[in-house]
Amino acid sequence: MNFKDYIRVIPDFPQPGISFKDITTLLQDGPAYRASIEALRELVKEKEIDLIAGPEARGFVVGAPLAYSLGVGFIPIRKSGKLPAETIEEDYALEYGKDKLAMHADAIRPGQKVLIADDLLATGGTISTSVNLVRKLGGDVVGAAFLIELEELNGRGKLDGIDVFSLLTY
Ligand code: PRP
Repeated sequence: MNFKDYIRVIPDFPQPGISFKDITTLLQDGPAYRASIEALRELVKEKEIDLIAGPEARGFVVGAPLAYSLGVGFIPIRKSGKLPAETIEEDYALEYGKDKLAMHADAIRPGQKVLIADDLLATGGTISTSVNLVRKLGGDVVGAAFLIELEELNGRGKLDGIDVFSLLTY
């Protein structure tokens, strides 16, 4: 399946100069959505994984089905103020804008092997912040998996020493 056929590219969204890769057109197609998650699972199959962590909001639509399919737990990484129990937090910068990401303080036990999943790797800010959160709790980051990697932004450069798995590159 050529997954790029299912990604809608929108120029100058949300601001001039940004070419937005819209995955909603993939998500709304049942067989394509399922096949993309299965293809991602195939990419990470050599990894031993106890948990998948995914950042809000689009990380949920990739990380949760991947976790379900692997039969492992899913940890939501959320914008600050959304999680109800005790959290740990980290500041982060986005491709456009900035915010704080949070994870429940008891989400991961030391030594657990965690794969981080998201729809897209751009500057790597979101994922490197997610890596920091997982490591703060003693988790072992075994890799990072994406539907899409924007190569020219070199997000990989921020993920030194972490195995990066991308289904599609632009
Ligand atoms: C987008 C995308 C990634 C992140 C990638 O999320 O889903 O999480 O940006 O950019 P980066 O590599 O430069 O950090 P966004 O923060 O827009 O939130 P959303 O998923 O809630 O739309």
